[in-house]
Amino acid sequence: MDIFVCSDCGNETTKWSGRCPSCGAWNTMRDAGRIIGKGKKRKSAASASVTEAEPFAAADGEMKPRARSGIGELDTVLGGGVVPGMAVLVGGEPGIGKSTLMLQMASRLASAKQPALYVSGEESAQQIRLRGLRLGIETEELFLLCSGNLQHVEQEIARLRPGLLVIDSIQAMQNPDVESAPGSMSQMRECTARLVRLAKDNDLPTFLVGHVTKEGMVAGPRIVEHMVDTVLYFEGEGHLKILRAQKNRFGSTNEIGVFEMRADGLHEIADPSGIFLHGLDHAPGVAVGGMMEGSRAFLVEVQSLVTPASYGTPQRVSIGYDPKRLSVALAVLEKFLAINLRQHDVFLNLAGGLRTRDPALDLAVAAAVVSGFRDKPLPRGTVLLGELGLGGEVRPVSQAARRVNEAAKLGFKRVLLSPRAKASADKLEIVAVEHLSGLFAAIDSGVQR
Ligand code: TYD
Ligand code: MG
Repeated sequence: MDIFVCSDCGNETTKWSGRCPSCGAWNTMRDAGRIIGKGKKRKSAASASVTEAEPFAAADGEMKPRARSGIGELDTVLGGGVVPGMAVLVGGEPGIGKSTLMLQMASRLASAKQPALYVSGEESAQQIRLRGLRLGIETEELFLLCSGNLQHVEQEIARLRPGLLVIDSIQAMQNPDVESAPGSMSQMRECTARLVRLAKDNDLPTFLVGHVTKEGMVAGPRIVEHMVDTVLYFEGEGHLKILRAQKNRFGSTNEIGVFEMRADGLHEIADPSGIFLHGLDHAPGVAVGGMMEGSRAFLVEVQSLVTPASYGTPQRVSIGYDPKRLSVALAVLEKFLAINLRQHDVFLNLAGGLRTRDPALDLAVAAAVVSGFRDKPLPRGTVLLGELGLGGEVRPVSQAARRVNEAAKLGFKRVLLSPRAKASADKLEIVAVEHLSGLFAAIDSGVQR
């Protein structure tokens, strides 16, 4: 049976059509030929996997020792280092720094006993070497294979017995047994399955790079996400990059890693305190809040733009903050501060490319919108911490002490907080706000004192 693959989204059908039924693109369906050898392989794999069940208590529950990559931020996000046999997907938009991070990691983990194998199906050895020079990589134990052919990869694993494998990228890999284009669903499914199996059989930690567009992954490697142990996403704005685990069978998905891209590669920012602040806090429409990512607290500038709406339905746009929480905050503002936003567009942004689901930013969001609406800046040096309830009540936030400490450390003068939150500080003033209706009185009272 012939199959047809959309070159845009990777959708596969058995019938040709002028328009892809999945993504709607025109003239993108290509004949990918016949799939051969698939049935046969399935059978042998099934018969090989017959084993006996073992008692729960006898199962080996011990974790194999992790290898530290020497890049602390990466180790933290992985849950404490690289686990033998783990399969990791590293996703991110083109140009974000995936290849750079992988090369830096591979060069550090490579050792005489266990070399690292870096497979690139996208760049030439010369390009990668040039990048390596920029990064100051000089190790002899790092091997480059510039091929998209899965069989070449398997041969080199058997020959070199590496202690780490990087595939850059999974979209460039091809199993010649499957007659469809690299990047198509069937190739990615097939290549990922083989590589994950290899990883497990050889205790070989394997990192698969996957390209993501703004709308999601090219050719939908959601399947890849399901097949690997850990999914990391690399994202960010400008020089600052954030590494985040979206799924992790070997650790939590709480922690983030912060990096800065410089001329000589990615540098970790082990103390990202204040790095997301841009000194905007005296502009109208800006309020400073505190958010937690794993065990670290960050202060963040919430920016809002409130302008008269030019069309019937006003726009609500939120970047980095849950749009539903913004809607709730606006409704609560209308009800308890009698601010009518029905004729206004509201745009909200967390400065520095941050993104969070932490409800502790609610109070800062509300204050930013009011400040934007009135075109009046909030007093300098103020941090707002609080979750908003539907009744307009300000709820205490988790780990308030950490957030307050961060504010004190960065020289802020006052923190607004629910009276039920447990936090104190020597260097700054803590102002209690119980209800949204008292927010501006609290802000002003703090200033006068
Ligand atoms: P790259 O790792 O190639 O991104 P990806 O593999 O995710 O597509 O890096 C992309 C950008 O990083 C590129 O625009 C150049 C920049 N860069 C630096 O600024 N400094 C460096 O040392 C390197 C290697 C890259
Ligand atoms: Mg790359």
